[in-house]
Amino acid sequence: MRQTKIVLPDNEIPTKWYNIMADMPNLPKPPLHPGTKQPAGPDDLTPIFPMALIEQEVSQERWIDIPEEVLDVYTLWRPSPMFRAHRLEEALGTPAKIYYKYEGVSPAGSHKPNTAIPQAFYNKQAGMKRISTETGAGQWGASLALAGSLFGIDITVYMVKVSYGQKPYRRIQMETWGAEVFPSPSTKTQAGTKILEGDPDSPGSLGIAISEAVEDAATHQDTNYALGSVLNHVLLHQTVIGLEAKKQFEMVGDYPDVIFGCCGGGSNLAGASFPFIQDKIAGKELRVVAVEPQSCPTLTKGEFRYDFGDTIGMTPLLMMYTLGHDFVPPGIHAGGLRYHADAPLVCQLYHDGLMEAVAYGQTGVFEAAIQFAKTEGIIPAPETAHAIKGVIDEAIKAKEEGKERTIFFNLSGHGYLDLQAYADYLSNKLQDYEYPEEKIKEALSKLPQI
Ligand SMILES: Cc1ncc(COP(=O)(O)O)c(C=O)c1O
Repeated sequence: MRQTKIVLPDNEIPTKWYNIMADMPNLPKPPLHPGTKQPAGPDDLTPIFPMALIEQEVSQERWIDIPEEVLDVYTLWRPSPMFRAHRLEEALGTPAKIYYKYEGVSPAGSHKPNTAIPQAFYNKQAGMKRISTETGAGQWGASLALAGSLFGIDITVYMVKVSYGQKPYRRIQMETWGAEVFPSPSTKTQAGTKILEGDPDSPGSLGIAISEAVEDAATHQDTNYALGSVLNHVLLHQTVIGLEAKKQFEMVGDYPDVIFGCCGGGSNLAGASFPFIQDKIAGKELRVVAVEPQSCPTLTKGEFRYDFGDTIGMTPLLMMYTLGHDFVPPGIHAGGLRYHADAPLVCQLYHDGLMEAVAYGQTGVFEAAIQFAKTEGIIPAPETAHAIKGVIDEAIKAKEEGKERTIFFNLSGHGYLDLQAYADYLSNKLQDYEYPEEKIKEALSKLPQI
């Protein structure tokens, strides 16, 4: 019988996270204080983050211990399985070998609990009573709601309004784990109120929801803020994916030639690829490809410069590829990819040629998702489907060139709470949005001059 699943026992869960800052040729430029525009130090972050996470944010230690309490929770679903996509390979008639890591086995259904769990743990340890956050598609909010329930911390979620309407079951999932959920922009915060005054029908965006969640944390003593992607410590926590994958590749005596990851803020792409990029930096042949939506083409069409992480301009300025912090992307179904910028670590690696990027429209993406579902069984999240489109195109290219290659991607989440998106695709209601060049130009013109 051929091997399809590559499975590690519980005691092979990594006990340390991998910090790529120890190895990358150029570190990202430092974050800047939003007011003074001077480098922001750890003290600037203490109103909204616990010190343990701030230390991880700036650490250049290569390996960082995973606390025992976090490992205990990780065992609920980690190590996650790796699969060889034999049936997809056969359907494509490709000489390429396709492997994927499946993060949909977490209780929330995606990779996001890998960082929600440690973030809730460190906040609890620091005596916090509540955490506020934003969510796009609901995957991150659900993950933090789960983590809050496991560690006994209250969770408030500002959910991008268009997703709040599209994904009621995500909201119910969060509420089941005990979180309170508001559609964003909301009147709960000054940031949301201001946006609604300018545009009462605003569909919301991750940037707006972040403004609301940060304001909530900054104005309440007992409340901290948590971000589901972008920041260094978030990407660090996600490296458990790639570290496990490396062991799983060893088990089958293989190694990827090319890695694909969908890229919203960059955390699952980073988690799956950074432990391999460590080898690439040391000289190994390997391509790493970020896949983003054409409607929000951050790496492929954005500019590499300092910008705010949120819409209002409350967060530190980060050096990122950005479309402009007040760019509101079209309401595509892959809500988790509707972010105006990407993680500074991913951006720096992309800038230095250690990563590539492609952008796809959503109809092609759903076509790929359905081909995957019909061959491999799992219905992927719309975000993940972007990576699958990249993988399928690469496997077809391998066939055309008559060349073998090993392709790896992270199946970052399942799509069982995203079925409305599939319904819309199947009834021909999905449209491809043109790259909104004018809107991006306008948003970029408002970026701070540094
Ligand atoms: C399933 C899934 N994959 C990917 C992403 C994109 O985020 P990131 O780029 O941080 O992995 C999201 C975000 O919500 C998601 O839900």
